[in-house]
Amino acid sequence: MAVADCTAMPRPKPDDRRGHPADPCILAIFGASGDLAKRKLFPALLNLRRSGLLRDELAVLGLATSEMTTEAFRDRLTADLRTFAPEDVDSDLWRWLAQRIHYLPGDFRSPDLYPRIAESLRELESSRGSRGNVLFYLATPPDFFGDIVDQLGPNGLTTEADEAWRRVIVEKPFGNSYDSARELNARLRKVLTEEQIYRIDHYLGKETVQNLLVFRFANGIFEPIWNRRYIDNVQITVAETVGVEQRGRYYEHAGALRDMVANHLFQLLSLIGMEPPSSFEAEAVRDEKGKVLRALTPLSPEEVLTRTVRGQYGESTIPEHPSLAYRAEARVDPHSHTETFVALKLGIDNWRWADVPFYLRTGKRLPAHRTDIAITFRRPPHRLFRDTGIADFAPNVLVLHLQPDEGISLSFQAKIPGPVVKTGSVEMDFNYAERFGRTPSTGYETLLYDCMCGDPTLFQRADSVEDGWSVVAPILDVWKALPPRTFPNYAAGTWGPKEADDLLARDGRAWRNGPA
Ligand code: BG6
Repeated sequence: MAVADCTAMPRPKPDDRRGHPADPCILAIFGASGDLAKRKLFPALLNLRRSGLLRDELAVLGLATSEMTTEAFRDRLTADLRTFAPEDVDSDLWRWLAQRIHYLPGDFRSPDLYPRIAESLRELESSRGSRGNVLFYLATPPDFFGDIVDQLGPNGLTTEADEAWRRVIVEKPFGNSYDSARELNARLRKVLTEEQIYRIDHYLGKETVQNLLVFRFANGIFEPIWNRRYIDNVQITVAETVGVEQRGRYYEHAGALRDMVANHLFQLLSLIGMEPPSSFEAEAVRDEKGKVLRALTPLSPEEVLTRTVRGQYGESTIPEHPSLAYRAEARVDPHSHTETFVALKLGIDNWRWADVPFYLRTGKRLPAHRTDIAITFRRPPHRLFRDTGIADFAPNVLVLHLQPDEGISLSFQAKIPGPVVKTGSVEMDFNYAERFGRTPSTGYETLLYDCMCGDPTLFQRADSVEDGWSVVAPILDVWKALPPRTFPNYAAGTWGPKEADDLLARDGRAWRNGPA
């Protein structure tokens, strides 16, 4: 099949390159035997190839500490894919990919490893024809990020020559505070240019999250009402039913605010709050998103006390669904102060959003697995129906269901048939799966593909990572100074501590808990 060649053309705009395979390249994965690689990255490569978006010249170099041959690594992946991509594991698709996967064991902190990586890349390049393009994926614990990149530079692994590109994807968490994120940015930039760094937030790989841009800017009817004149409040909920699982060691130092709010929830907030960019070019989109984070009203220490709520789950009180308290989970301090739930009230201080509260919440062990954004519109300005016996009606609510039942719904008032004037709320629903069917996706396909094509639109720029941390910094400071005294303060399987409901009740509002 004749295909357009990404490398030979000026950098295509995202829409121009849809449907064309990505540049030939070697994907070098640090942490290739870890969870992310087997659950997401290898299945995503299969899905990309199925869609015709990977070339024959692709090669994968798996890097991890265990001593293993390439054959043993392929066998191990085959076994993993029986769980994570069961439909593909016995297919030609997997055979195609497996023969392109190679393995190199080594200690990521040892200087000896890097010349060996350079050697393997040279061999793969000459056998596969990947044209010198290399995408390094740092799928390791975060304390390796700086150490790995420090070594890539002096070994010539990040040098771009003769049109070949070298890029580095950095997984989250990107730092664990404003200062550490700045330090990491500075350290990476000693070796790499900003154009070579792709900071990932997997929420931006979700179709429905990308659809927020299309929904807002490809439709003429929403933009005129997308402001303080028509919108009463915005609620962003990322609810999980799972607990901390086997990640106690990491989570103890992270907590929900660092783990979810500073990245995923702020990405959603910026897509909802941003001004229309002047084009769909990466920098135009990222500039506008960045302005939203910079316009978030900083919280004073007093406001941290009144506008933020933290919680930690206790054991379940539902006999049919028993589950442990957070403090009883593996690798968690039995007296832990780490929060597994956060609710915040934030404001965006600009012309469009002044005085519109943005309520954010996220938590583990909540009653539903649900990510959605509910936009509640103001009620009609005058009460035309006051003499008809209709007391009050519910406001219009637009809900963007991001997962797991992806779709969009809009509620509005309708007259209930009959001679007496009565109204009720009805919904217009759009459901992704019903309309477009389901295509297998891990959420990493677009991100890998975009990076291989050099499109950073869906990746975080240094400034926006730092801006995100600067918003949560005052909260972290106050929380650290005042350790929680009532943890655990919500039972597993409930919607978080009572204070989260009070936060909205004080404004005469309630969380939209909706059907699970
Ligand atoms: C990760 C967090 O970034 O996102 C996890 O570290 C969380 O704690 C996960 O469970 C949620 O992602 P998703 O795609 O399942 O909503």
